[in-house]
Amino acid sequence: LGTALVDTHGRVHRDLRVSLTDRCSLRCTYCMPEQGNEWLARSSILSLDEIERIARVAAADGVTTFRLTGGEPLLRPDIVDVVRRLGAIEGPGGPVQLAMTTNGIRLAALLPDLIDAGLHRLNISIDTLDRERFRELTRRDRLDDVLEGIAAAAASGLRPLKLNTVAMRGVNDDELPDLVAFAVAHGAELRFIEQMPLDAGHTWDRAQMVTRDEILAALADRWELTPIPGRGGAPAERWTLDGGPHTVGIIASVTAPFCGDCDRLRLTADGQLRNCLFSTTEYDLVPILRSEDASDDDIDRMLRSCVHGKLPGHAINDPSFLQPARGMNAIGG
Ligand code: GTP
Ligand code: 5AD
Ligand code: SF4
Repeated sequence: LGTALVDTHGRVHRDLRVSLTDRCSLRCTYCMPEQGNEWLARSSILSLDEIERIARVAAADGVTTFRLTGGEPLLRPDIVDVVRRLGAIEGPGGPVQLAMTTNGIRLAALLPDLIDAGLHRLNISIDTLDRERFRELTRRDRLDDVLEGIAAAAASGLRPLKLNTVAMRGVNDDELPDLVAFAVAHGAELRFIEQMPLDAGHTWDRAQMVTRDEILAALADRWELTPIPGRGGAPAERWTLDGGPHTVGIIASVTAPFCGDCDRLRLTADGQLRNCLFSTTEYDLVPILRSEDASDDDIDRMLRSCVHGKLPGHAINDPSFLQPARGMNAIGG
């Protein structure tokens, strides 16, 4: 305990994505079936004490960023306490960074408390600005709530603020420049995401995916895009718009994988560590957390096993690719 989490390919793990619940207030077609999934049993969901204990060990091992995800993290009743307690953790290099990825619903109401509790950064998902499309895509008529959440985030001054859009052929691919302009107007960075094979229905189709190059072509009519160097371990490739200051990003997991620089670990709401979005193995922390005589060293050992088992990258582009059993909503993106 207390040394860096380095895998067999030399990648240092500094980012822990913590899924707080598998439930969500939306039903995006690329993530969940209409009727929802079979949810995790409440008794299997980690308590805040359990999450905090894992997070402390991770921070001692050099993890510097925690990102709260879901499902939808704001559905967790104790979300403000989660932010307060995880945000107060310090590693050898000082206090951790605490970020959240949310669908924006309930955000307007919760944001003042979240900021007061120490939230540093927000990413908000928005795939369309059209109300009818939003309803079809998410199977819920909640665009206004999301827009309210984005407006509150913009007004709060929390920066950098990022908006995430999964680009989809025939769904929102005619809106890409408008979404960028919307983000710019809110002082945010729009990031387009290539759709990944992680939906519960296993309906992903490569031909339906809008690629990085297609996204760039769609933006090139409106702006001059200049690459921003120095990406580090970040999934997004970034560009300035017309020389800056505004920027846009693309997360091209399929056509331009960035696994070689991956610095992420994932913790599911039911206490499983994952070394990759696409891993088929999980490392179960529950027996350790719920045993009388297990110690933080046991958690540390499990973190190291997980890191040690990490493959060089995903296999989306291999003919033999198999989707993981869990869908996106239970992994946390
Ligand atoms: P930042 O630290 O702000 O850049 O956040 P992020 O982009 O890592 O997180 P966010 O939750 O906003 O995720 C945006 C998209 O990137 C989602 O579709 C995630 O599934 C995807 N993503 C995040 N991390 C990884 C990763 O390590 N690998 C892959 N393939 N996709 C990732
Ligand atoms: N492919 C790519 N991105 C996805 N997201 C959810 N499912 C997928 C998928 N199959 C995105 C959400 C959110 C982020 C956490 O992950 O839209 O922005
Ligand atoms: Fe990391 Fe897996 Fe994402 Fe590649 S696909 S960047 S290894 S989480």
